[in-house]
Amino acid sequence: DGEVYKYYSDGKWKKSASGKSVAIINPTTRNTQYKVQACTQEEVNKVMDSAKTAQKSWSKTPLWKRAELLHKAAAILKEHKAPIAECLVKEIAKPAKDAVTEVVRSGDLVSYCAEEGVRILGEGKFLVSDSFPGNERTKYCLTSKIPLGVILAIPPFNYPVNLAVSKIAPALIAGNSLVLKPPTQGAVSCLHMVHCFHLAGFPKGLISCVTGKGSEIGDFLTMHPGVNCISFTGGDTGIAISKKAGMIPLQMELGGKDACIVLEDADLDLVAANIIKGGFSYSGQRCTAIKVVLVMDSVADSLVEKVKARVAKLTVGPPENDSDITPVVSESSANFIEGLVIDAKQKGATFCQEYKREGNLIWPLLLDNVRPDMRIAWEEPFGPVLPVIRINSVEEGIHHCNASNFGLQGCVFTKDVNKALLISDAMETGTVQINSAPARGPDHFPFQGIKDSGIGSQGITNSINMMTKVKTTVINLP
Ligand code: G3P
Repeated sequence: DGEVYKYYSDGKWKKSASGKSVAIINPTTRNTQYKVQACTQEEVNKVMDSAKTAQKSWSKTPLWKRAELLHKAAAILKEHKAPIAECLVKEIAKPAKDAVTEVVRSGDLVSYCAEEGVRILGEGKFLVSDSFPGNERTKYCLTSKIPLGVILAIPPFNYPVNLAVSKIAPALIAGNSLVLKPPTQGAVSCLHMVHCFHLAGFPKGLISCVTGKGSEIGDFLTMHPGVNCISFTGGDTGIAISKKAGMIPLQMELGGKDACIVLEDADLDLVAANIIKGGFSYSGQRCTAIKVVLVMDSVADSLVEKVKARVAKLTVGPPENDSDITPVVSESSANFIEGLVIDAKQKGATFCQEYKREGNLIWPLLLDNVRPDMRIAWEEPFGPVLPVIRINSVEEGIHHCNASNFGLQGCVFTKDVNKALLISDAMETGTVQINSAPARGPDHFPFQGIKDSGIGSQGITNSINMMTKVKTTVINLP
């Protein structure tokens, strides 16, 4: 019982003076799996102070040395893949193999970031004045990229490690310090990941990790005057944060309702395989999951049959068994998903499978003949339930996609590449995938949402640039 994971501040593992802890519930057993410290506002203040101090000298640390430390952290992270993956299995019920993949992908991301960082930040620009009307060549302008200061990183539960390092590594290579507030489900995985950075030997205070109750330290962190930039991934909370944050750069990736538009000439086996991968991997708990299928009526019966056959093969059970479908993250999430299912039932959707739930475990469900008056046509279940809307024209599909308040990704299946490009142009989303399910990776690709899906663009290169500011020095010649 005394086992409460310590938080990380000023290079040390500490107990909170609050004497309180936050319980992490295992989604599969619904019992308390771990406990973390419930940090106080006072402790947040201390973390901010040391982050500010550490950043000053870190920004003067040679770029190649920063990169060297990141490469070291990446290697240690990969060495620790097994115990971290085990935490992911217990905290967020991620299937065992995917949990390992998440950690390995994170190590690769950190290394890539170090390499990309030395290239991007190792270059500046040189401008001359006489290209602008009225000027002689009397001014030389030198540009470089300087860090923003203290970055606050808030990753979500579904990729606690990967979406933490996708903020940590760009921040650090660019000369910033970083304060991490992990999600409650995923906090211990994050603490373990931070331990890898600790072992790599980063200067004290440069990276810290505070755990606790959102009600106590959430707003306090996001509105803290010591924060110079917030990088957030998650749900609606991001909208609230963006309204309350000060005049600082924000990088936000929020929800999505990624549409899969299927044309008459599409390879339906390819579509069905991608719907399974896109709609049901990690039980649909991905921002980039396919969340609505918009299929041309003439091929809908055939596609639904193919998807049904593949759904029947999905294994359902605990993450330890590496099941395809595992319990969703919390009871409230399962209840929310169930609410969407009941609404669809009442309004006449066709159930391709029987609805089944045990605790937080929801069996995969394909809902056919969904209509726009059903909540599931618009809302994000974040669970293994996928609606199919039959359309009579491509325009109808594009219209449904664009009527959403979200605009993260989308995909279109057709053999006609010209049509695909026109549809991509018409879809109001950050990314459109042609003939494949939406996905964020590879992690150096730009990743962005429009409308309620986000602010700014991520991906390794964009994140490094976003976490810096251009500084210029102008030499005035006599
Ligand atoms: O849900 C988080 C989002 O970043 C998805 O990432 O890799 O599953 O496409 P990915």
